[in-house]
Amino acid sequence: MAKLKTSYACSGCGAIYPRWQGKCSACNAWNTIEEDVSASTPSAQLGAKASKAKASKVTSLFATEKQAPRIHTGMAELDRVLGGGLVPGSAILIGGDPGIGKSTILLQLSANLAANHKVLYMSGEESHFQIQMRAKRLGVEEAPIQLSNLAVLETALATIRQEKPTLVIIDSIQTMYAEALESAPGTVSQVRLAAHELTQAAKQSGSIVIFVGHVTKDGNIAGPRVLEHMVDTVLYFEGDRGHAFRLLRSFKNRFGATNEIGVFDMTETGLQEVTNPSALFLSERPDDATGSAILAAMNGTRPVLMEVQALVSATTLAQPRRTTLGVDPARVAMIAAVLDKHAGYTFSNHDIFLNVTGGMKVNEPAADMAIAAALVSSLMNKVIPHDTLVLGELGLSGEIRNVNNMQQRLKEAEKLGFKKVLSPPLGKDIKKGKLSLNTLPKISEIGNSLFE
Ligand code: TYD
Ligand code: MG
Repeated sequence: MAKLKTSYACSGCGAIYPRWQGKCSACNAWNTIEEDVSASTPSAQLGAKASKAKASKVTSLFATEKQAPRIHTGMAELDRVLGGGLVPGSAILIGGDPGIGKSTILLQLSANLAANHKVLYMSGEESHFQIQMRAKRLGVEEAPIQLSNLAVLETALATIRQEKPTLVIIDSIQTMYAEALESAPGTVSQVRLAAHELTQAAKQSGSIVIFVGHVTKDGNIAGPRVLEHMVDTVLYFEGDRGHAFRLLRSFKNRFGATNEIGVFDMTETGLQEVTNPSALFLSERPDDATGSAILAAMNGTRPVLMEVQALVSATTLAQPRRTTLGVDPARVAMIAAVLDKHAGYTFSNHDIFLNVTGGMKVNEPAADMAIAAALVSSLMNKVIPHDTLVLGELGLSGEIRNVNNMQQRLKEAEKLGFKKVLSPPLGKDIKKGKLSLNTLPKISEIGNSLFE
C-alpha cells in the first residue's frame, strides 16, 4: 500500500523542501512554500507487476504510423509560432501577464476551429457570461464551442476521454483542481497532477490541449518547473501596456523553431495579425535622430528589422551608468570597450542608455555592429543615413565577423526599401540584389563608413 508522504514545495519555482520554511532558497521568494502531498512507493515494489514494454524500431514507426496532418489555426502568425500549425495529440502551455490577451487569442482560435472540429473550452477563471461577452466583442458568439466553467480535473478527464474533442483549452491550469487531492487549486501538487493527467488523456484521445499558465513577478510561468517539461510547446504572450501590439514567442517547441515570433495588434474587436512586423517596428522612427541604427534580427526563422537607440551623454559620475533595455548590458559593455581600444571612441566619462524600440529584445551577436553604430552615432552627434542597415558580430580584437542567415536578412532590408548595408565581407554566394554593400573588416573604419 502506498503511504502518503508530506514534503513542501515552492509554488513559484517548484523547489522541494523536507520541511516548511519562510523563504525559498532557490528563487528567494517569501511565503511561497506550501505542503505538497504525494504518494510514495518503495522502489523495490515498483514494476513488480508490470509487463515488459513493447518496443518497435524507429524505421518501422515511419512505415506504420502516418503522420497526422497539422491543423491550421486560421491565423498565419499563430501557425508560424507553432511551427506550421497545431500537432494532434500535443500539449501547449501559454504564459503571459494578466490582461495581455491569452483568453482572447484562445477564444479566437476556438472559434476558428469550431466550424469543423469539436472544441472544448474549460474556464475556471471566468463565468459563462464573461466568456459570452468576449465572444460577442470578437463577433464569434455563434461559434459552436462547448463551454464549461467547471474546473474539476476528474470531470475534465472524463469529458476528454468520452468526447475526444480536437481541441481542449484549459484557462487556466492554476484553477484546475482534483477532488482527490486535499490541497487548494494552484498549489504545486494540484498543478502538477492536473497537467500530467490532462496531457496523458489528450495524448490518448488525440486531442490538442492548450493550458493557460499564470506568470510570476519575474515573468516565469508559476508553479512547478516540471510543467514546462511536461508539455511539447511553451509559448509566451508578451507586450507593453503602452503599445497595442502583442508578441507571441515560442520558448520551447518540439515541433518547430524556438524564438519564433508572431505579431498581433490588439484592437477593439480582438487580435489582428500583423503580417509585416518590420514595417511596424520602424514606423515611428524619426528621420534625423542621432544614436539610431537599424539591424535585421532573426526571430526563429524570420528576419525582422529593428531599431537600436543609444543615448550617450557626458557624466561626472565616477562610475558611469550603463542602462539597457532589450539587450544584454554585459554585451554593451564589451562593445564599448572594443570601440575604445580599437577605434578610439571613449565612453569612460559618458553614461550609456540603450534601447531596442517597441519593447523588442535582441540577444544575438549579429546585433553587435548595430549597437556599436548607435553608440558612435550618439557620441559623435552624427546621424546614420536613414536607408542604411548595419550587421555584423564584433570580435574582441576589433574584427568584424559574419553572421548566419545573411541572405534572408538582406532580403528583408531590400523589401523595406533599404539602400545601403554596412557589413563584414560577405561570402561569394550571397546575392545583394539592389543593395549597395559597404564592407568593413575592422571596427577602426566604422566612423568613415557610417557617415561618409
Ligand atoms: P484577456 O484575453 O482577457 O487577457 P488574459 O486572458 O491574458 O488575462 O484580454 C483582456 C484585455 O484585452 C483587456 O484589457 C481588454 C483587451 N481587449 C481588447 O482590447 N479588445 C478585445 O477585443 C478584447 C476581447 C479584449
Ligand atoms: Mg484570461
